[in-house]
Amino acid sequence: MTMNNIEQIVSDALSKINSAAIAELEALKAEYLGKSGVITQILKSLSQYSIEEKKRIGAEANKAKSGIESALEKRFAALEKARVDEKLAKEKIDFSQAFYFPFAKGSLHPVMQAINDISRIFKALGFSVAEGPEIETDWYNFEALNIPASHPARDTQDTFYLDGMKNLLRTHTSPGQIHVMEKQKPPVKVIVPGRVYRNEASDASHSSIFHQVEGLAVDENITFADLKSTLASFVHQYFGSGLDIRFRPSHFQFTEPSAEMDMQCFFCKGKGCRVCKNSGWIETLGCGMVHPNVFRSVKYDPEKYTGFAFGMGLERITMLKYGIDDIRLFYENDLRFLKQF
Ligand code: PHE
Repeated sequence: MTMNNIEQIVSDALSKINSAAIAELEALKAEYLGKSGVITQILKSLSQYSIEEKKRIGAEANKAKSGIESALEKRFAALEKARVDEKLAKEKIDFSQAFYFPFAKGSLHPVMQAINDISRIFKALGFSVAEGPEIETDWYNFEALNIPASHPARDTQDTFYLDGMKNLLRTHTSPGQIHVMEKQKPPVKVIVPGRVYRNEASDASHSSIFHQVEGLAVDENITFADLKSTLASFVHQYFGSGLDIRFRPSHFQFTEPSAEMDMQCFFCKGKGCRVCKNSGWIETLGCGMVHPNVFRSVKYDPEKYTGFAFGMGLERITMLKYGIDDIRLFYENDLRFLKQF
């Protein structure tokens, strides 16, 4: 057994191994390193050699053995990696495709849609949109709006008080008027949509949480005619062109004179139907000319400026518009209801 022989055996083995398929590696291992494998045979035959040759051939054969072993391992690892890579490539998922179809798109809540629609209409009339805090102090919700402590008008406002009456949940969006006027000098033209709270039992037409949109315009020489034309324009765009509006005397502490505005029933055009309870008219909002005391609260000169204000309940208007008969539907998040908008 010469060195050349062993080198030849190893180089044959390596070339076979490096071109073998994964399933052939076991057989090659047996061929060289198994019980009757080529290298094993050489090691078994060492006894026939002289001590000198034993050492030389033994060392050579052991080197061959470990060389072949590591070639087998390397080949196995490389083939296994290629197999896994190929499998993963086949199983690859394009998540942008996977998520493409199964989920339905959400939609805006009907109250949010109403706020957006109403805001768009008033913006086109030159109003900006502001927001106020839902937690208010007595000053903003009452005092500054000409509703002094102990005034009976407070009783009608079923208020949720917080922190031992220091703060409260606003009962209307009218405190938004005060915030705007405190920050800004006239002219003012603004609407303030938002959530309001009343401490009252809920039923089909009452909820302790609902939404209002407040409107305010202040400048020199603003008159009731401006209020009327602004609201007429709003009604025509939101509910339908040609609908008549009318004003009935009313009372609010923060406006003088005060009025309730009705619009002709958009459903029957005033003929009388279920929606308008056969009256031909629908109560739409409260409004009036800003009370001088309100101007005094925000240090506007009531001799110089006049203004109008209005406030409407959004759920009520939306219920009328879509024929919804229970206000609680707005807050139950029942998809069967919400999907219709
Ligand atoms: N704040 C009144 C309410 O909640 C509505 C209103 C606003 C009336 C502005 C007049 C002027 O009923």
